[in-house]
Amino acid sequence: MKILITGGAGFIGANFIYYELEHHPEDQIVCLDNLTYAGNLETLKEALENPNFRFVKGDIADRPFVFSLFEKEKFDIVVNFAAESHVDRSIESPEIFVKTNVLGTTTLLDASREYGVKRYHQVSTDEVYGDLPLDRKDLMFTEETPLHTSSPYSSAKAAADLFVLAYYRTYNLPVTISRCSNNYGPYHFPEKLIPLIISRALNDETIPVYGTGENVRDWLYVEDHCSAIDLIIRNGRVGEVYNIGGHNERTNLEVVKTILKALSKPESLIRYVTDRKGHDLRYAIDPTKIETELGWQPKYNFDTGIAVTIDWYLNHREWWENIINGEYKNYYEKMYGNR
Ligand code: NAD
Ligand code: DAU
Repeated sequence: MKILITGGAGFIGANFIYYELEHHPEDQIVCLDNLTYAGNLETLKEALENPNFRFVKGDIADRPFVFSLFEKEKFDIVVNFAAESHVDRSIESPEIFVKTNVLGTTTLLDASREYGVKRYHQVSTDEVYGDLPLDRKDLMFTEETPLHTSSPYSSAKAAADLFVLAYYRTYNLPVTISRCSNNYGPYHFPEKLIPLIISRALNDETIPVYGTGENVRDWLYVEDHCSAIDLIIRNGRVGEVYNIGGHNERTNLEVVKTILKALSKPESLIRYVTDRKGHDLRYAIDPTKIETELGWQPKYNFDTGIAVTIDWYLNHREWWENIINGEYKNYYEKMYGNR
C-alpha cells in the first residue's frame, strides 16, 4: 500500500511515520510537508534512510502541485496531519489557520476524489467540541457531542471536519476522522506546554502558567495516538468519527509540578501570567467507541508516558536546543515578553 502522510515533519506526523515504518514494513510512505516553523527535517533523519520512505516539500493548499503529486503517485491512503496547530498563534494570526487547515484540507479532499484514494483520514482534535465545566467530572466528549469551538484554531479544524463529512455524504468519498486529546512525547515543538516546561526547567528559566493553572487537559502519549490512527485507517468504518483518549486528566499546575519534581527543579520557577483569551476550561475524551469497535487500548498512562518523555528530552538536547536558539527566541519574547 502507498500512504501519503501530510505534516509528517511535525510532532505527531513524524511519530506516525516511524510507527508505520516499524509496524508495516511492506507499505510505501510519502511525506508531504512545506516545513513551516513547526516542520523539521532533522526529525525525519532516520526515516530518510529507509528505502520505503520519501519526503516531498510542498503546501497542501497548493492545488496544481497537490493534483500533480496525486496523479503521479496514485496513493491508496491519505492521512492528513498537516495543520497550523498552536492555539496561541491562531489568536494572533487567524488567517493562515483558514488557509492551511480549511483550504488545505479541501484541496486534499478534491485530489483524493479525483484520483480514487481508497481512504482519506482526517486527523482532527477534541478541541472541536469546545470545553467542559471544571465542576462536572461526569461529563466527557463523545462522538455525538455538538461542535462548539472557542479559538480560531479549533474553528478551522471543525470547519475542515465538516468538509470531510460533506465529501462522504455528497461524493461518497471513503473518509474517517479521529479526534484526539492532548498529545505529548518525542519531537514535540517547545511552544506547547509540556516541552516548554521541560526545556525551560532544564535551563532554570521561569515556567509561564496561564491564569490560575486550574484548566484541565486529557493527556495521551503520542505513540498511543499513532496506534489508534493505524487501526482506524485499516479497520475503521467509512464515514465514522472516532474519539481517542486515555482518561489522563490533569490540571496544568499538576503537570508543571510533576515535571519540576521529576527534574529536581524548584516550584519557585512557576510564574503566573495573563490568561489565554477564550481559554478552554477542561477537555475529557470518552474513548468507548474506538475501544469496543476496534479493540484499541493505550499502552501508557500519564506517569509512564511523562517519564519516557522527560528521558527523551534529556537525551536529545541538541534537537530542542537548535529550536529554542533560533527564531523561537523572537516568538517567546513576542508572546511572553509583556505578559
Ligand atoms: P505540528 O505543528 O507539530 O506539525 C504540523 C506540521 O504540518 C509541520 O511539519 C508543518 O510544517 C506542516 N504544515 C503546516 N502547514 C502546512 C501546509 N500548508 N502544507 C504542508 N505542510 C504543512 O502539529 P502536531 O501537534 O503534530 O499536530 C498534527 C495534527 O494533529 C494537526 O492536524 C493537529 O490539529 C492534530 N492534533 C494535535 C494534537 C496535539 O496535542 N498536538 C492533538 C489532537 C490533534
Ligand atoms: O486537545 C488537543 C489540542 O491540544 C490540539 O488540537 C492542539 O493542536 C494542541 O496544541 C493542544 O492544544 P492546547 O491549547 O490544549 O495545548 P497547549 O500546549 O498550547 O496548552 C496546554 C494547556 O497549558 C492550556 O490549558 C494552556 C496552558 N499553557 C500553555 C502554554 C503554552 C500555559 O499555562 N502556559 C503556556 O506557556
